[in-house]
Amino acid sequence: MQNILVTGGAGYIGSHTLVELIESGYDVVVVDNLSNSSKESIKRVEEITGYSIKFYENDIADMVAMDKIFKENNIDAVIHFAGLKAVGESVEKPLEYYKNNISGTLNMCEVMRNNNVKNIIFSSSATVYGDPVEVPITEQTPKGICTNPYGWTKSMLEQMLTDIQKADNEWNVILLRYFNPIGAHKSGRIGEDPNGIPNNLMPYITKVATGQLERLNIFGDDYPTPDGTGVRDYIHVVDLAKGHVLSVKKLIENPGTKVYNLGTGKGYSVLEVVNNFIEASGVDVPYVIAPRRAGDIAECYADASLAKKELGWEAKFGIKEMCADSWNWQKNNPSGY
Ligand code: NAD
Ligand code: UFG
Repeated sequence: MQNILVTGGAGYIGSHTLVELIESGYDVVVVDNLSNSSKESIKRVEEITGYSIKFYENDIADMVAMDKIFKENNIDAVIHFAGLKAVGESVEKPLEYYKNNISGTLNMCEVMRNNNVKNIIFSSSATVYGDPVEVPITEQTPKGICTNPYGWTKSMLEQMLTDIQKADNEWNVILLRYFNPIGAHKSGRIGEDPNGIPNNLMPYITKVATGQLERLNIFGDDYPTPDGTGVRDYIHVVDLAKGHVLSVKKLIENPGTKVYNLGTGKGYSVLEVVNNFIEASGVDVPYVIAPRRAGDIAECYADASLAKKELGWEAKFGIKEMCADSWNWQKNNPSGY
């Protein structure tokens, strides 16, 4: 398990995972169509690691291009980040989301099978639990009704990959359900760089802190949570990245299909995040309370003990470091890459 193909490697989580893989001694090949990223992130990973990355600017749905990638490289496993991920946009453009995420993945799996590469680690999401029937959420917590097409693509792809593995036990499928990744590499050279006005909390906060946005809208303060604002399990992206390295190690055991929650196990409210950010950065973040956002749930946090038991993985960074590192990235790169 030495050569890892990282799809979507130019993106936020992908670029951080490249650093951790390279620093753990793996060889990496990246395919990304740059639809939501820039090649600059790859350059910066090279700068951080001193490693020269083989990069292919292709769409994962392009079976001819993908076949060439597998033929030119002796790939052992795929870490599959490539996909569209904007919840609101997926409601406006369901066809584009289903096509990109589902057809793209199925085409790629066919090419993988043709090339006898049957190890895949898939970026799934806590969104598959819908409005969870219990917190903390374990992997046994039933999957739920997704509130948007993006979420359904994750839920459906989990099922499809599970079925592919069930039919052919040469496959190994590790489904990683991420909670809310924030933070950035300590160097401040790579980080989250959303297009336009951010949808997610932390990139919105950092843009308010730089003065590019006037104030944060806190979506609802009447949820059944301690301070009324939504509670989420924020996880440092470097911890998340390390979870992928340990998942690659797990593949050696031929584990079949495995599902792991990657979260810290601790929930923070929107107000707690804002206050931690202000403390960590020393910069004020003006906010107003706004109406609830459609599709939001009150509380979501993980029981991540299975990942600890089976992968030896545990989140190390706390909320202060997540805030400090998000800020370090944004203040050094106010316009992103
Ligand atoms: P990102 O948009 O930064 O990275 C995704 C990358 O995939 C981008 O570089 C994009 O250009 C590329 N891509 C998209 N479609 C492609 C295609 N058809 N062919 C080739 N490349 C393609 O997103 P991210 O935050 O790094 O997320 C990575 C993965 O993790 C995604 O699958 C996402 O759905 C999942 N995920 C993210 C979060 C989160 O909050 N960031 C939470 C749960 C799951
Ligand atoms: N929030 C605000 N104001 C904002 C943005 C967010 O108050 O401007 C609040 C939300 O209402 C929520 C919390 O901050 O209570 C977190 O919201 P995010 O948009 O950052 O994250 P979500 O939990 O809604 O969703 C994210 C990803 C999903 C993924 C999910 C779980 O966008 O794709 O985490 O992994 F499925």
